[in-house]
Amino acid sequence: MSLPSVVPADGLPARVTIYEVGPRDGLQNEKGLVPTEVKAEFVRRLIAAGLPIVEATSFVHPTWVPQLADAAELMVMLGEQGRDLPVLVPNERGLDRALELGCKHIAIFGSATETFAQKNLNRSLDAQFAMFEPTVARAREHGLDVRAYVSMCFGDPWEGAVPIDQVVAVGKRLFDLGASQLSLGDTIGVGTAGHVTALVDAFATAGMVTDQLALHFHDTYGQALANTLSALRSGITTFDASAGGLGGCPYAKSATGNLATEDLVWMLTGLGIEHGVDLDQLVATSSWMAQHLGRPSPSAVVRAVGA
Ligand code: HMG
Ligand code: MG
Repeated sequence: MSLPSVVPADGLPARVTIYEVGPRDGLQNEKGLVPTEVKAEFVRRLIAAGLPIVEATSFVHPTWVPQLADAAELMVMLGEQGRDLPVLVPNERGLDRALELGCKHIAIFGSATETFAQKNLNRSLDAQFAMFEPTVARAREHGLDVRAYVSMCFGDPWEGAVPIDQVVAVGKRLFDLGASQLSLGDTIGVGTAGHVTALVDAFATAGMVTDQLALHFHDTYGQALANTLSALRSGITTFDASAGGLGGCPYAKSATGNLATEDLVWMLTGLGIEHGVDLDQLVATSSWMAQHLGRPSPSAVVRAVGA
């Protein structure tokens, strides 16, 4: 059996968009280099499994993230299909590279904390805006869609607790540069369900509607599904997830894999929430990738369904 019983619960959205980050957030953290053809096949299989959005790669500095240094080769390999997939872009140099390849969707990624801005972007918290501002302005002039991520929304490994007001101030400022969506990252997975409600409420008070927000959970402490349910109750309808639970962040110690897409799909299916993903095809894809990576998937659903 590869589907749960469907028993809907009151007060939840009818449909959710899953924003797949496995090829980017997942593979950026792998020790070994994954061949570009394998990455292309991974992306194609995820799309074939019904994932509506697959973030393909990053146009960051190749020495900062060597795992994704083949971003251009991958996009060429993906051809026309690749142009509709979002890619991470930190600055104007990254934007130039993405524009050359005809990318139509980019994602910038800011930090809610000073320390992580320094570690991940080599910029102060304030200086990150000077990097993103011209990048987003020029992307919008070229008609590109821009997503903004904000990291360390629930806690930071160097600074500890991160005040909600600080997250809202940084997130809102990133979004207001010209983004269509703001993804709230629990980069190190320390968030819990009540914190999710409080953060979403604080963004609502600051004037953002739930459709403008996505939640990006890492499952370090096993809270990602509980946090997802909490966000669903607050009306959030976009969730980032990574096939097989791959992932982490090379510049955040203690960041582990993202919420596994299979675990998310299982829960949404059980709640009767539409998502459009074929679980068997997705599990087959993650099992295939696990073989390439030489270790089993950390996703409970991949292990249970694949057994
Ligand atoms: P920097 O060293 O300060 O860059 O790095 P710079 O602006 O001083 O430029 C130095 C040189 O790098 C120049 O070359 C630039 O052209 C070149 P030179 O003139 O010396 O020959 N350069 C580039 N080359 C290629 N592509 C580029 C690029 N930019 C500059 N884009 C930088 C600043 C932002 C580039 C660097 O810190 C960086 O690449 N950081 C990326 C780190 C990263 O990718 N982290 C993981 C993604 S974030 C994440 O995972 C969190 C998320 O999942 C959400 C969550 O979980 O919270 C999104
Ligand atoms: Mg992440």
